[in-house]
Amino acid sequence: MHTAEIGIIGGSGLYAMPGLTEIEEIAIDTPFGPPSETIVLGTLEGRKVAFLARHGKGHRILPSELNFRANIYALKSLGVTSILSISAVGSLKQEHKPTDFVIPDQFIDRTFARNATFFGEGIVGHVAFGDPVCPIVLDTFVKACEEVGVVGKRGGTYVCIEGPQFSTRAESNLYRSWGSDIIGMTNLQEAKLAREAEISYATLAMVTDYDCWYEGHDDVTVEQVIAVMHQNSAAAQKVVKAAVRLLPTDLSASPAQSAAKYAIMTDRALIP
Ligand code: ADE
Repeated sequence: MHTAEIGIIGGSGLYAMPGLTEIEEIAIDTPFGPPSETIVLGTLEGRKVAFLARHGKGHRILPSELNFRANIYALKSLGVTSILSISAVGSLKQEHKPTDFVIPDQFIDRTFARNATFFGEGIVGHVAFGDPVCPIVLDTFVKACEEVGVVGKRGGTYVCIEGPQFSTRAESNLYRSWGSDIIGMTNLQEAKLAREAEISYATLAMVTDYDCWYEGHDDVTVEQVIAVMHQNSAAAQKVVKAAVRLLPTDLSASPAQSAAKYAIMTDRALIP
């Protein structure tokens, strides 16, 4: 039987995880369809991990086209109890510079075309989401950044936009006026579904650009995002590797681990 303890979702700039041993690549199907890509199982730092390329090999899947439910379901079916997510983001504050890492602890939802719940179709459930990120995984990422010697900022607000277009300048300035730190297109749905699936989740956000609010800086382009990603992907891989080693095995204090316990409102006698 295939199992893993830690899920790793690699985003733009992290399509593979070097250093894995005892590798096996498996295709998984879920009730929601297949995940973005085959999952690479392996051992890293003595722990069993499952690596999934969020946008598929060759970056083929748009943020709005991602089957977030299949991705999280597939990792849950392998038994993962935590997910280390990595993604590229824009900066909404001058102090967050390209190549910095930020580990956000809050999200604002600006998406409108995504399915981000396992509930529905006769089962009504509501999980607590006031603290959407697991503090243990977040803390692990911060310590891993320290160990690797890169800037890894603890906390911050991530605005999740629908995309695929980058924001208008008015939107970018609006998000800044809300005090937001970074902007991306993928992480909030993963955090929501991981919480419903009782998986401890946090994201290592790699700043690739200043979005379009920044005066004296060209508007964000894919070219710019890719250039910084390439420059920084080796650092991201080192941070993930250190995080896998540093992540506590006991996650029982994580708000995720019992999130669904009191979430279901539907009369249990009516659940098939
Ligand atoms: N991903 C990387 N940079 C971004 C930006 N400026 N806006 C949204 N997503 C991004």
